[in-house]
Amino acid sequence: MQTGMIHAHSGLRWILLILLIITVINAYMKWKGEKDFTSGDDKLSLWTMMVTHIQLLLGLYLFFTSGKVMLSGLDMANAVGRFYTIEHTLGMMLAIVLITLGRVQAKKIVTAAGKHKKIFTMFLIALLIILLSIPWPFRDLGASWF
Ligand code: HEM
Repeated sequence: MQTGMIHAHSGLRWILLILLIITVINAYMKWKGEKDFTSGDDKLSLWTMMVTHIQLLLGLYLFFTSGKVMLSGLDMANAVGRFYTIEHTLGMMLAIVLITLGRVQAKKIVTAAGKHKKIFTMFLIALLIILLSIPWPFRDLGASWF
């Protein structure tokens, strides 16, 4: 069960990253190209947000079950414990809030350019935070590529 959840959480990162990158590029091109905001654009950011919310649920499960999270007696000198207990969790939660807020705020904007710009800005910041918060194998945090 635990291994399956870690693999699901680890693999879903790629689907999330691909969707997020497509959403950011699409919003930028349509903002600069002065294009309409279509239902396809809306669905793209919706799917991206939904995948981040699934990732949040998997992450919450792992947070309370993983041996790498130290809910009591966290030693700040322990890089792995500090990363998963604080850095990864807070960074990803901030990114998920930005993606959710970006969509909610874009809905309230009336112009197509304004909607595209809002999605572009909020999703791009979230993408950068996610890239910095992923335990890439070269960071020696005990995680793999898949
Ligand atoms: C955009 C959202 C997220 C992404 C892309 C992401 C990505 C990842 C990746 C790639 C790993 C390494 C898996 C491996 O060992 O190969 C991981 C581990 C982990 N993540 Fe996330 N994560 C996200 C959100 C969260 C959130 C919000 C939480 C907590 C509430 C969380 C908690 C954890 C924990 C506890 C582990 C360590 C699991 C273990 O190895 O025991 N993640 N995450």
